Amino acid sequence: MKINVFKNEDEVLRGLANFIVEIASESISTNGQFSIALSGGNSPKKLYELLASPSYKNKIEWNKVHFFFGDERYVPHTDSQSNYLMAKKAILEPLELSYKQIFPIDTSLSPDEAAKAYTNDINLYFAGTEPRFDLVLLGLGDNSHTASLFPHTPVLHDKTASVKAVFLEDQKVFRITMTAPLINLAHHVAFLVYGEGKAVAVHHIIEDKTDIEEYPAQLIKPQSGDLQWFLDTGAVAQLKRK
Ligand code: 6PG
Repeated sequence: MKINVFKNEDEVLRGLANFIVEIASESISTNGQFSIALSGGNSPKKLYELLASPSYKNKIEWNKVHFFFGDERYVPHTDSQSNYLMAKKAILEPLELSYKQIFPIDTSLSPDEAAKAYTNDINLYFAGTEPRFDLVLLGLGDNSHTASLFPHTPVLHDKTASVKAVFLEDQKVFRITMTAPLINLAHHVAFLVYGEGKAVAVHHIIEDKTDIEEYPAQLIKPQSGDLQWFLDTGAVAQLKRK
């Protein structure tokens, strides 16, 4: 695991953008493509906008990049809560990508059907080989969830490399999420976490005692891939060992 700490939000976004350029170029020159699972929420929006900006958009052969989603809110793609809509506005439309490069989660189906259909899409994409994404981007909730692996939900104990529906009792909403085993197959996993508000959660995940029910992001341990954290000084404020 590599912990990359940056002075502020802009620096951490640039640091992660540079990392993505590096591994995407490597993957495209080796395999002719780069598969990325995007994270949702607020933190990555500026990263996606940066990657689609004039300073980065010519650094990657975007026509060889395939975009998936690590998780999705169970809402229509037109809903302001949709991770797909956020990514569409921030990077997918600005880069004028072919729809064939984009694999949204179909939230017009029932939650379970959407999860099954996405598991199928992923297995078809990897053509029967192990579904190993080149990069899975993750955020971290202040309650230590990642993707939609929330505290005290059954999906935390799912041992299959797949996509599952999860019902959040407190919010009375469904989410669709990659399971930890699927994320842990990735060649690279990168957490993007910035701001003081995340400092306690970062401490729980990186150095606290193991308790996956309370701190689900502790489940993220790539089998053979590398795990990198991209943090600002605010997010590491509670780390005892810096
Ligand atoms: C989502 C994300 C989720 C997110 C964390 C952090 O769909 O919300 O995938 O896991 O990464 O909730 O969200 P913020 O970046 O908005 O704090």
